[in-house]
Amino acid sequence: MKISTLFLGGLASLAAAQTPAPYTDAKSGITFNYFAHSSGYFFGIALPENSTGSTDFIATLGGKGTGWSGVSLGGVMLNKLLILSWPNGQSIVSSFRKTANYGSPAVATGTFTQTPIANGTYVNGTHWTYTFLCSKCILSDKTTFASTETAPSLGYALNAAAPAQKTTPSASVTKHTAQGQVVFDLTKAKSKDFDTWKSWAVPPKVARDFEG
Ligand code: HEM
Repeated sequence: MKISTLFLGGLASLAAAQTPAPYTDAKSGITFNYFAHSSGYFFGIALPENSTGSTDFIATLGGKGTGWSGVSLGGVMLNKLLILSWPNGQSIVSSFRKTANYGSPAVATGTFTQTPIANGTYVNGTHWTYTFLCSKCILSDKTTFASTETAPSLGYALNAAAPAQKTTPSASVTKHTAQGQVVFDLTKAKSKDFDTWKSWAVPPKVARDFEG
């Protein structure tokens, strides 16, 4: 009994969590090392060709419907830098978060910023996609992966239910319905085109849509 339960559990998590692989977004043309979850959640990361010492990356984060998607840049939920985003109509609401306790994480402040890349940020009939430059986001205080790491574990979390106050970047969210950690291959996240893609990042006109 126990063995079959374990086996089925193993199969279910294999189906739910695929291995990150290179993926090029059709709209922006940006290539990410990209993790897609069976729920429709996705997170992808792109780095400069020579990323040693760089503190920037480009990310794409999204999901199905109107729920929230989150990523932990340090793998686990607690005491790591988190990014939490969701759609609000045709725009995206996003913030940095951090928490020492299991509960809706508070907004985190620091020198890190996220700046949207418009041609990779869109909401369509099934999905929302938020592509952004995360600047000064790779920290040396162990709250994120390090620029020298090639295979860091990053955390994913999502809930298909939209936050009650979806116009407010600091809104609290209800607990994820799926979460976990995935090993990314940062050797496949690097591109000589990074600086071109980075130049597309422009601060949003409606500043209150973004915090951090
Ligand atoms: C009310 C909100 C939240 C609650 C109560 C909560 C609670 C928890 C708990 C108890 C776990 C351990 C695994 C489990 O028992 O389910 C966990 C894991 C996790 N959470 Fe959350 N969480 C919340 C929101 C978030 C948000 C907004 C993010 C990301 C932006 C996040 C990211 C993660 C990740 C990546 C894991 C897996 C890695 C780990 O176990 O630390 N969580 N969460």
